[in-house]
Amino acid sequence: MTILHSKNLVILNPLYLLLLLTISLTPISSDSSQPFYTPTESIALDCGYSVSSTTLDGRQWVADTGINFLSPLDQKRNKSIATSAETQSSQASSVPYLTARISLTDFTYVFPVTAGQKFIRLHFYPSQYPKFEPSKAFFSVKANQFTLLSNFSASLTAASLGSDYLFKEFCINVEDEDQTLNITFTPSSTQSDAYAFINGIEIVSMPTNLYYTPADPPYGITFIGHEQNPIHIENNTALETVHRLNVGGREISPMLDTGMFRSWLKDDDYVSNIGALPVNNSFNLIFTKLPSYTAPAEVYMTARSMGNNKTVNKNYNLTWNLPLDSGFMYLLRLHFCEFQVEVTKQSDREFTIFIANQTAESQADVIVWAGRNHVPVYRDYAVLMVSQARDQKKHNLSIALHPNPDSQTLYSDAILNGIEVFKISDYSGNLAGLNPDSIPPPASPSTPQPAKTENRKTTPVATVVCGVLSGVIAVSVLGFLIFRRRRRVNSRGSSNAGWGSISYVATNHTEMPYRSCS
Ligand SMILES: *[C@@H]1O[C@H](CO)[C@@H](O)[C@H](O)[C@H]1NC(C)=O
Ligand SMILES: *[C@@H]1O[C@H](CO)[C@@H](O)[C@H](O)[C@H]1NC(C)=O
Ligand SMILES: *[C@@H]1O[C@H](CO)[C@@H](O)[C@H](O)[C@H]1NC(C)=O
Ligand SMILES: *[C@@H]1O[C@H](CO)[C@@H](O)[C@H](O)[C@H]1NC(C)=O
Ligand SMILES: *[C@@H]1O[C@H](CO)[C@@H](O)[C@H](O)[C@H]1NC(C)=O
Ligand SMILES: *[C@@H]1O[C@H](CO)[C@@H](O)[C@H](O)[C@H]1NC(C)=O
Repeated sequence: MTILHSKNLVILNPLYLLLLLTISLTPISSDSSQPFYTPTESIALDCGYSVSSTTLDGRQWVADTGINFLSPLDQKRNKSIATSAETQSSQASSVPYLTARISLTDFTYVFPVTAGQKFIRLHFYPSQYPKFEPSKAFFSVKANQFTLLSNFSASLTAASLGSDYLFKEFCINVEDEDQTLNITFTPSSTQSDAYAFINGIEIVSMPTNLYYTPADPPYGITFIGHEQNPIHIENNTALETVHRLNVGGREISPMLDTGMFRSWLKDDDYVSNIGALPVNNSFNLIFTKLPSYTAPAEVYMTARSMGNNKTVNKNYNLTWNLPLDSGFMYLLRLHFCEFQVEVTKQSDREFTIFIANQTAESQADVIVWAGRNHVPVYRDYAVLMVSQARDQKKHNLSIALHPNPDSQTLYSDAILNGIEVFKISDYSGNLAGLNPDSIPPPASPSTPQPAKTENRKTTPVATVVCGVLSGVIAVSVLGFLIFRRRRRVNSRGSSNAGWGSISYVATNHTEMPYRSCS
């Protein structure tokens, strides 16, 4: 029972206990009345382990060793092995990342699930396992008829993220006639000695048509550049989450999501200018346009806007650059909520939204969309990322906001509260892109143990960061690392310092006053 021992040891590690304490002292949600979604199925599988565990965040992970979910054939063949990494990650929690199921041949998990749309999350810790080198793992992952990953190298992917571990989130629909959700791991036949491995799997049902397009009424999603041909995301498509950002706010860990265990990251690494960070956690969100599980309340109570200098705002775009695989169609969801006391009327804050350098909205006005302030709304767009030249590696999708002319709006400003980006499977049900280059980004020294907390402190960079939301970030035991990068050393710090630090100056009534909380 050495495995059991080592896992328990980590759970009792004082550092983690300290973090747990931090979590319990941090107010969980400023709006505890927000009704959550209760998934029909919620499975968290700790692969390669024989005992079920509860992580510090209270999530239960069941063991896969024994009878749980491994296909009957694979249990008989006994080709895959349950094993444990030789070293433990300082960044990842031991459950589910320490143990793995590994195999030189294909293996399948069979999950008996109801029909409907599901999240699948695959967790990988590409480390040294006894007799298995991380660099030799190349494999594909299929879920029913969808190819989620192909010739996938978890170690190249993790290296490109500057992380020890990663997880990937997908959405698929299980048809009535399927009756099960089968997830098959197949080592690449083109790489010698290739093996497949998996540390953890989550299957969580999702609210119907949270991201898929309802058939009735047949709304389509605006297809950027092809507005006359709206896109429908139907049940025969699969999605991969590539970004989920709490714009202007803190990271939101799975247990603080609305019941679906999604992770919301900070947007700091993707935004070109700090802008301003309005926050208000002392008002009630009014969910008249959206189900209240759409996003955590906190997403709508923090935002990024441009700042309070009209002249400056008119001369720049508030821009996010989000790396993506080209050659796929993407669903882009922008979340909005007006909560600043100054913005209550139509045209108070009207702006233009550019997506991939094209005009997506020429008169974005959250008050018009929502009917009033405090009402969360989102807007969906589909965008095709064509592959430039031969290389199919990452490209940036830009989202840029720009204030409309004075004749159209009172404040020269723009606002955004949250961003979600999903890759849409192609005609053959494939979502897999290429591996990132093997050269990792310039290594930022990763301090062994407390790296997590250090990275997650909220820096009160710009204007107003009030109340509990500015507190130390609750540790997310499962980081959403798909595109997490070590903080890039770019020009942001210096070039924004000038106006990013504006706090409270309102020189005339048309400038947006930002209040500080005392
Ligand atoms: C899943 O695997 C089981 C057992 O191998 C098989 O009977 C079933 O048809 C498969 N289901 C799907 C949807 O592929
Ligand atoms: C937050 O919103 C409420 C309700 O609109 C308002 O009364 C309060 O002044 C706001 N707080 C801040 C800090 O803006
Ligand atoms: C706005 O910024 C411009 C250019 O940086 C500067 O000249 C001006 O004084 C600023 N206005 C206010 C009100 O701070
Ligand atoms: C849009 O333009 C910027 C440069 O202005 C570029 O970096 C970006 O990649 C372009 N393309 C897309 C698809 O956003
Ligand atoms: C904002 O972005 C759009 C679309 O890429 C571009 O046409 C425009 O010139 C940009 N404006 C500024 C001020 O950078
Ligand atoms: C698999 O990925 C590796 C690393 O990116 C690459 O060198 C190799 O050519 C790929 N193999 C196939 C069959 O695509």
